[in-house]
Amino acid sequence: QTITWSPEAAQKGGFPTFMLKEIHEQPNSIHTVLSIEQAQIHQLAAMIHEHQRTYLVGVGTTYYVALVAQYYFASLAKTFLPALSSDEFEYAAEVDGNTLFVCNSQSGETYDTLKALRFAKQRGAASAAIVNVIGSSISREVNLAIMQSSGPEICVLSTKAAVAQMTILLRVALELGKIKGVLSEQQYEEAQLQLKDLPEAIQWVLDQRMSVIRKIATTHCHIKNWLFLGRGIYMAAAMEAALKMKEVTYQHAEGMPGGFMKHGTISLIDKEMNTLVLVPPQREKDLYEATMSNVEEVKARGGFIVGFHYGEPDSRFNEEVIFRDVPSMLAPLLELVAGQLFAYYSAVTLGRNIDKPRSLAKSVTVA
Ligand code: G6P
Repeated sequence: QTITWSPEAAQKGGFPTFMLKEIHEQPNSIHTVLSIEQAQIHQLAAMIHEHQRTYLVGVGTTYYVALVAQYYFASLAKTFLPALSSDEFEYAAEVDGNTLFVCNSQSGETYDTLKALRFAKQRGAASAAIVNVIGSSISREVNLAIMQSSGPEICVLSTKAAVAQMTILLRVALELGKIKGVLSEQQYEEAQLQLKDLPEAIQWVLDQRMSVIRKIATTHCHIKNWLFLGRGIYMAAAMEAALKMKEVTYQHAEGMPGGFMKHGTISLIDKEMNTLVLVPPQREKDLYEATMSNVEEVKARGGFIVGFHYGEPDSRFNEEVIFRDVPSMLAPLLELVAGQLFAYYSAVTLGRNIDKPRSLAKSVTVA
């Protein structure tokens, strides 16, 4: 295996931690994946189109990448591609020669994902992967490997690699939408233009919202239980933001669909359990209103609510981070980056080992 990264690239470059450095590298890593040749994106979209069944597979953060992508494919290509956690794949999936297995993995070495890939291949599935590490096992064993070239990710928590993978899968969803005629030529071109703004929109979050996120995190990080809510693609982003929080702060954060909360979990809401809600832009009226109804439910039980949202200041939130307006397909990614920063500053205040949290490894290559 050849390592193409220079020792300089592996340094912290003035940041106190690799995690913060890698969070800041996201505009750049997104820019990089936006320049992956269209032919490769098309190739994966065409493979999905040709197969009867496609699964999106990953584990840990990369499972949540798959879950975010599931919603992109549903909305932009009107195609249901189930996201499965690698470790559950063999129990849940139906695999034969008409199946396509698509996984994503930063390291390309994760045991659970590699095992799922081999299981699928043995049963005749075709395979594709989005991978960061060149020459890794997964990149070598799939029919089509898309290299994301995000550079070294040293912090155990995945940030820039994950958001870059989401961006690649967003491109594939748009391409499939075009192939299937779900998106008109004009809608497709418009979306391509909108995508170009993503690095800058994320840079805006880093430049303009870091201090408020830091302030909220510093003030409330002593709360040991968090519920992270969202609906639709915001649910997937909430799950990933909650995983970041758990990994780095050792506090309990549970990501959950907003509508699911009232079927049990709502009984936990009290002064010792805070809620963070990922709210969509208001123009997505139904999703917005459904999400805000969850905010009301939490509020009615005296819960403390941090809102990530796109509207005017709203007194229903106890604390809020307001984002600048962006196209709907980009909006959840901005909130996800805010979630990374929230976890980061909470952990800094709690004095955690940011780059190497206890019990975690960057790449889990054993069963
Ligand atoms: C480990 C890491 C996680 C990561 C997961 C998948 O559990 O601690 O941060 O998301 O593996 O890693 P991969 O290299 O396959 O993306």
